[in-house]
Amino acid sequence: MMEDFAKDFRDGVDINLGVGYVNEKTIPVAALVEAIEAVAADAVTYRQAFNYGGPAGSANLVQSLRRFLTGMGSGRLDEATVARERLIVGPCGATSILDGLAEVIAPGIVVTSDPMYYIYCDALERRGFEVLAVPEDEEGIGVAALERKLEALNGGIGRIAFFYVVTVNNPSCTILSNRRRRALLEVAARLSRQQGRRVPVFYDLAYELLLHDPRADPFASVLPEDDLGIAYEIGTLSKVIAPGLRIGYLLGPDGPLMNAMVQKTSDTGFSAPLFVQEMASYLLDRHVGEQLRIVNAGYRKKAVAVREGIERSLGGVLEECRGGSAGFYYYLTFRDVETHPSSPFFRFLTRTTGEPAVDGPDGKRLPRVIYIPGEYCVHPQGDLAAQGKRQLRLSYGFEDVPRILNALEWIEQAVKFARETPVLAERSLRSVP
Ligand SMILES: Cc1ncc(COP(=O)(O)O)c(C=O)c1O
Repeated sequence: MMEDFAKDFRDGVDINLGVGYVNEKTIPVAALVEAIEAVAADAVTYRQAFNYGGPAGSANLVQSLRRFLTGMGSGRLDEATVARERLIVGPCGATSILDGLAEVIAPGIVVTSDPMYYIYCDALERRGFEVLAVPEDEEGIGVAALERKLEALNGGIGRIAFFYVVTVNNPSCTILSNRRRRALLEVAARLSRQQGRRVPVFYDLAYELLLHDPRADPFASVLPEDDLGIAYEIGTLSKVIAPGLRIGYLLGPDGPLMNAMVQKTSDTGFSAPLFVQEMASYLLDRHVGEQLRIVNAGYRKKAVAVREGIERSLGGVLEECRGGSAGFYYYLTFRDVETHPSSPFFRFLTRTTGEPAVDGPDGKRLPRVIYIPGEYCVHPQGDLAAQGKRQLRLSYGFEDVPRILNALEWIEQAVKFARETPVLAERSLRSVP
């Protein structure tokens, strides 16, 4: 779907609330230039930075990440835990870590929350995994629902390959509460003991550094309590420095899984580009504290302004609005308006109703608004399949506030169109190929 739009997207006209891109203004270009110059100028600290790197990651970057995770930038882990765990850098962002897991772990059932990070869950299914999606509530993955689903698996429980949760969920930006984080580890530990094998839990921290709501509790990692050696954290610098660096890491117990992941990095392309890893190390050592402050202040402002806009334009028609405390998505549930790609609402916003009054006259198509339909975000065989048809993910990351507010006005009109002119919408649907 995104490709269809990308090819004729009109900058400054169409409004993209669909992409998971960060806001361009958050990318510290001057610091990146400073970092590459520093790396190129210091062949002692940054040895052979333009040569091949090692598959476990640059020693400088691994050290910088360890310091960052215990230090002021993040401060969510104690030194003893970080020292105990192994930290490796993937070949191409957190995505490559996720991809690596799907390669080194034998196919089976992956337990995750619903709505789910559909990009990864779709990839898992293409690789022969089965995704078991458990509905989330305001604290993240529902533990009672999880227990019910595990019980229903019966003998199938032996097929569970791993648990995967996004701690600030994509698409909903629901924050996994600290007690749920622990509860999930306890479930996986119980299963591991029952079955005499390690059932790993992967916590995807992609948006955790974007906790911008001062009222929210700080995150507490479960790694210090992981007696069995089954908990892993996947992190990325994409959201807080620059996605273009493609730096993602895996932190967790050393052992066969970690070794297999290092081998996988080597097989994929030896390592992430070494000079980029060194740049990331430089930035983490010198700039990350200030960078986090700037980025989070920016997203906080946007979150508040967009939330007000949502209230203003859609307050009366929403059943629920999730997000707004961390990350940069809102996840909307409409009471009675469908959002899926064949709905009048979607066709209004993509200007594909076939009605010139709605789409704009020939050659002068009105602004289009792109979002991610909830239908893509919920598991098609899961409990939320029907509800997903009335949901959407709206990103306030990429576009600036005035354009997002403008898009919300178009969305308000799309709601009216979908509710008041169903006959027109029906007729137009047929005229669209
Ligand atoms: C939940 C989640 N995990 C991982 C990623 C990928 O991160 P990276 O850019 O490091 O590959 C994303 C990107 O949006 C994400 O939303």
